[in-house]
This record gives sequence, structure tokens and C-alpha cells, in this order.
Amino acid sequence: MTGPATTPAPWWRDAVVYEVYPRSFADAAPDGAPDGVGDLAGVRERIPYLQRLGVDAVWLTPFYVSPLADGGYDVADPRRVDPVLGDAAGFAALVADLHGAGLRLIVDLVPNHTSAEHPWFRAALAGDPAARERYRFVDGTPDTPPNDWESVFGGPAWTWSEQAGAWYLHLFDPSQPDLDWRNPDVVAEGQDVLRFWLDAGVDGVRIDVAHGLLKADGLPARTPESLAAGAAAPPEFAHVRAHPGAWNQPEVLDVWRSWRSLADTYAGERLLVGEVFLPELDDIAQYVAPGLLHQAFDFRVQACGFDAAELRATIAPALDAFGDRAAWVLSNHDLVRHATRYGGGERGVRRGLAVTTLLAGLPGALYLYQGEELGLEQAEVPPARWQDPQGRRGGRSRDGARTPMPWTADADHGWPGGSWLPFGEVAGRSAAEQDAASGTLAAYRRLLALRRRLRELPPEGAPAWLDTPAGVCGLRRRLGGIEVGVLLNTADQAVRVPLDVTDVLIASDGEPLVGEGVVTLPAESGAWVRLRP
Ligand code: GLC
Repeated sequence: MTGPATTPAPWWRDAVVYEVYPRSFADAAPDGAPDGVGDLAGVRERIPYLQRLGVDAVWLTPFYVSPLADGGYDVADPRRVDPVLGDAAGFAALVADLHGAGLRLIVDLVPNHTSAEHPWFRAALAGDPAARERYRFVDGTPDTPPNDWESVFGGPAWTWSEQAGAWYLHLFDPSQPDLDWRNPDVVAEGQDVLRFWLDAGVDGVRIDVAHGLLKADGLPARTPESLAAGAAAPPEFAHVRAHPGAWNQPEVLDVWRSWRSLADTYAGERLLVGEVFLPELDDIAQYVAPGLLHQAFDFRVQACGFDAAELRATIAPALDAFGDRAAWVLSNHDLVRHATRYGGGERGVRRGLAVTTLLAGLPGALYLYQGEELGLEQAEVPPARWQDPQGRRGGRSRDGARTPMPWTADADHGWPGGSWLPFGEVAGRSAAEQDAASGTLAAYRRLLALRRRLRELPPEGAPAWLDTPAGVCGLRRRLGGIEVGVLLNTADQAVRVPLDVTDVLIASDGEPLVGEGVVTLPAESGAWVRLRP
């Protein structure tokens, strides 16, 4: 007799997903001289690099036709590849090559807003009443905006259009008008764009501002309470706290239910992962209720300092809420790179690798951002070269996280056509140098390779937090009959952890010392150890 059939876990549950910001990844210029802007052909060329790194999937940030007012998140044609980055045939070739290499691809959809260059918005300004209904236009006079909402990028969230004789809402840049998700055309178009990319063979989508789209009835102004909550919040959560009427409206979940129904009609577990940039775990968890999104990023973890107790207090409830549907993320194209957040220099890189070692050992998917495997830090981009509207509107410029990948140690770092943004301090950090040395890249490869081997072992039960001394946190996981301890020491000195360890599987820095009933973790390091059962 055979035992009950077990369905294998869907691919995305324990995937390592690598975010590619295509303009800064690799410039292949298939039909001419390199132009200083990365492209889809560049991604194709670097597939062997991604394979060797050991990731399972690529998430490609927007590569659609765009006037680039917000790095491509201002989409003028959501079905067409920007000619600077490639074309439909190049996209199909990328899908085929990635799949041929055993990698998946997810693309980024931007349903909250369009570019002001989108034909719908142009028609709306030109007076087409049906087009106007698809956005949030409000009649009035040029001196009084409809409410006091601010844009995430700074300045008012309303712009007066002389041409339309009305205000329109933009939670981001004025060139990113918000759509009205109560309008049936908008709902239908959202489904159609999703269908278009699923038909093109992508394995899933990352949904931009998935907690946006719907706004509260009557567009209520901020209140003294919400203003105070915004002022008290960490900067990245300040806008949602101050503007409860602009985000996280219950009806947005209906949109994700309908997207999920559509995605489920496709073979192969197409993934919906939401950028749900909310500070409360209970709110984030609503987005991954049965029948909704598969995963939602939990950005509370990146907001933690390099502090074992804080990380544990943040991760533990997330594990309870999401289990193996968690989506761990430390860095992306919007955040300050984590090596810099953790103090910068060699120390910041070492700390980053330590926390990554912890996250990689948890159930769930791990999202990496291009360049973190090289130990890249946030680059200093001179204001004259800022491209990011957030910087230009008085906020923190995100360009420093978006500088090009240094492929070689040469002066051009593998970008012979120049580069649209300058490089940061990348001495010693290029992929070529890291390839040769036993640097961060080698450490990421070892970590991801071990993760691959261990995930072949069926998890038995939920992980359990270990009783650890101050400065250390860690969990015990039972995988296919072996017991693995996943540990992080954030103290600036070695810490003795009372644990019965048989051997060290991997360590982010130095070599943990295994003694009788105790393991000594080097300062600021992460490790996986095998525990005596
Ligand atoms: C998301 C993107 C960010 C963009 C914003 C508006 O937060 O990650 O880069 O500016 O949405 O589309």
C-alpha cells in the first residue's frame, strides 16, 4: 500500500526571487552601440549569472512604454515593451531563455495609476467624458483643491488642469493620475492587462501599491489624529498613517479576488505578490486571505534595526500569520540598500549577510534586490543627476538604490556606452572581482545552494523559537528528520548559545565554535547549525 498522495508545494512558496531593475542591470544593445540604459537583452545575457547565483525566479520591474517620470512606474502603454529596452520578440525570447534555464519570470503591474501620456488620460484632458470618468477628476476652482491630501513624493496630491477645468488626483507624481477603480472600464482593463501578460507566459505578477486603488467615499481630509500618526511613523509608513482615506480600503480586496480567479484559470500556479506597504500585520494579512493574493511583502522587517530582539518580535508574528506564504524582503528599488541601513562599509555588508542568513533559513520566499549579492551600498548620486521624482519634489531620492550593476573592475564596469546613473563606491565590489574573491557573492551562492538542498527535505511542523541569550535570536526547524538551528547574533561580540550542535552547516562570517552543549557565534553573524535531535 502506498501512503496518501502528497501534492508538491507550489514553486513560489520557497522560491528565491531576484528583483531586476532593467535599466540598471545590463546593457546588451543587441542592434547597435550600447546606449547606457540596461535592456531585456542584457537580462538574457546574464541568465548564467543568475543561475550560478542560485535564484529561482526573476521579478522584472516595469519595462513598458513610459515617459520615465517615475522610473517606468508611469506606464503609457501597459502591453508594449519600451523600445529603449527591447520589443515583444525580445520579451518572448527572454521568457523562453529563462524557462529553458529553469528560472521563472514575474512582471510588475501598476494598476493604481497610469502615465499622463496614457491615451485614456490624454482623451480625458481633451474632453472625452467616458475617459474622464476613469480618473479622479473633481470640479472646482483653481484656488481650492478638493482636500488636503499630499502626494507620497511630496507636495499636494491634486493638480489643477486648465485643459480639463478640474482637479485630478495623483497619490504619486502629477504625471501619474490615479484611476477610479469603481469605474467598470478600469476594472475590465486591469483584468485584460493581467491576462495579456499571463498569456505571454509569465509565471506571476508583482502588483504595485496593492493597498491602493480604491479611495474612501467622499475623499475625507486628514484629521488631527491621522496627522499625528503620520508624524510619529517611520518615514516609509508616514503617508499611509496620515492618509487613512487614501489606502487600504476594504473593496480593494475584491479586485484581488477577481485577479486571483483569473490567475487560477492558468496552469502552473501563476503567482500574485502584492506590494502591500502597510505598517500593521493584521492589515497585510487580509491581502493573503484564501482566494486573494498568494503573497504580500511585509515591509515591517526591513524597518527593523540590526537587532535580534526587534527582528524576532517582528518576524515571529509574521510567521504565525503567513507561515510558508511569507515573502521576506530587505531591499528593493525604493528602499535604502540594507548594507547602508546597517551602518555601511564592510560592517554594513557583514550585518546584511547575517540577517539574510536568518531570513533565508525561514519558511517562505526570499526576495533579493540586484546588487545586494555584491554587497552594494546606497550610492551617492549628485542632485544634478537625480531622476527620481521623490528627490526632485523634496523627499529622499531613491536613485542611490538604482545605480547600475558593476559587472567588471574596468573604468566602465561593463557599461561601454556609459550609464544613465553614475556608479556608487564600487571598488572591489564588481561581479568580476567578487567572482574571483571569497566575497559576498560567493557567500550568497553558498547560502542559496544550501537552501536548495535543505528545501528538498519535507518540513515537519512549524519552526520553534529557541531560548537564546541577549543579542541572539534563532529558530529550530525539523526538516525530513534532521533538526536545523537558524541563528543570528547582532551583538558586537561573540555570544555563547546553549545548544547541542553536531555541526555547522553555514556561517555568514567566521566559524562558530561548537563545544559541549554550547555553540559560540561570532559577533554580528548568522549561521545554520545541525542540532542533535
Ligand atoms: C511603488 C514602486 C515605486 C513607485 C510607486 C508608484 O511603490 O515600487 O517605485 O514609485 O509604486 O508607482
